[in-house]
Amino acid sequence: SGGSTAYPGTALQSGYYWIRAVESPNFHQYLQTSPEYVAGPAILSSYTTAGQFNVVDGQLVELTAGGVLYGNVQVQANSSVTKLGLTFSTTQNSYGTFSWSGDALQWSVASITRPNLSAWLVCEEQHLYINLGAYDYLTPAGCADETIHYYNAATASD
Ligand SMILES: *[C@@H]1O[C@H](CO)[C@@H](O)[C@H](O)[C@H]1NC(C)=O
Ligand SMILES: *[C@@H]1O[C@H](CO)[C@@H](O)[C@H](O)[C@H]1NC(C)=O
Repeated sequence: SGGSTAYPGTALQSGYYWIRAVESPNFHQYLQTSPEYVAGPAILSSYTTAGQFNVVDGQLVELTAGGVLYGNVQVQANSSVTKLGLTFSTTQNSYGTFSWSGDALQWSVASITRPNLSAWLVCEEQHLYINLGAYDYLTPAGCADETIHYYNAATASD
């Protein structure tokens, strides 16, 4: 696709950021949903369809024409679960807190001790997960280790 012309589109809106990975094989792949701006799983994909985000009061919010969507974290079912899915929804997240550390997006929750709060995984169909393990250690099959960062250029690019 050549990217959406729908709001907020390809010009960065005030108060929002692009969020992109910086490690191979997802270097400069951008946070979004598919289709764009619609509730559903968080993925990393082309700059042409990048979403616009910020962290507000511990919520990861995505700007859409109809208001904002919230990044909802899958609750850890038991201690053997090592990655947590992220889905955008009209409902606020009630599990843990998002924050920036420098330009890196982090997530934390009191009930889980994470070795690296900036550790993410990109797995099947480019779905984004919170990595509860260490960065680049015991990477689950089919996944790639990533850190994801805000980027505030007027337009996203690869
Ligand atoms: C932990 O939860 C996962 C996901 O729900 C499940 O597949 C797995 O069987 C559970 N493991 C244990 C030990 O309960
Ligand atoms: C988390 O992992 C990233 C990527 O390797 C690294 O840059 C960062 O320093 C790590 N943070 C901690 C607290 O280990």
